[in-house]
Amino acid sequence: MKQFDSIEDFSSKISKPLITEQEIAQAVKRAAKAIDDIYDGSPILLVSILKGAFVFMSDVCKAVTVPCKVDFMCAKSYFESTESSGHVQIIMDLKQDIAGCHVVILEDIVDTGRTLALIMKMLKIRNPKSLRVITLLDKPSRRLVDFQADLSLFTIPDHFVIGYGLDYGEYYRNLPYIAEYKESEK
Ligand code: IMP
Ligand code: MG
Repeated sequence: MKQFDSIEDFSSKISKPLITEQEIAQAVKRAAKAIDDIYDGSPILLVSILKGAFVFMSDVCKAVTVPCKVDFMCAKSYFESTESSGHVQIIMDLKQDIAGCHVVILEDIVDTGRTLALIMKMLKIRNPKSLRVITLLDKPSRRLVDFQADLSLFTIPDHFVIGYGLDYGEYYRNLPYIAEYKESEK
């Protein structure tokens, strides 16, 4: 587990907000409106990809007005560093059958695209009525496999970001805004 020398060391690694709480709140409203418009009263299943998308899920599910259920999948590809291991593991699957359901996947960030490409492949064969992906953040310059979300709320450059669910070494998920993780200057 990541250790910090002091609280000052911990705090010094957080840049000023790249995306503020207000900007996130507006984006959440946009996502919820898109969902309400597309499904127009039909029931949906919101699927949050853990752990990163748990905060996004909590805000989006409160903002949609269509009947909605929630479920979770847990994927892991980063092992306490800012570089992906290149190998995606699904460590927790959905608890329910999605055949015939309108499924909306909520993701924190699409980086190489490997996680979502794998999850889409897994879920498509379960015959959902429809399957869409909404991502809070998108880093298209890092893409290694062909994947595009149906809705990306913010496109960001190739910076490692933390906050609003996103971590570095499991910390910083509870920041209410998105910041860049700054390695200390030696
Ligand atoms: P992908 O499979 O490379 O697209 O990466 C997907 C996962 O890597 C995301 O769901 C995040 O959990 C994590 N990730 C990618 N970029 C960042 C980042 O800048 N900060 C924190 N986590 C990240
Ligand atoms: Mg994630």
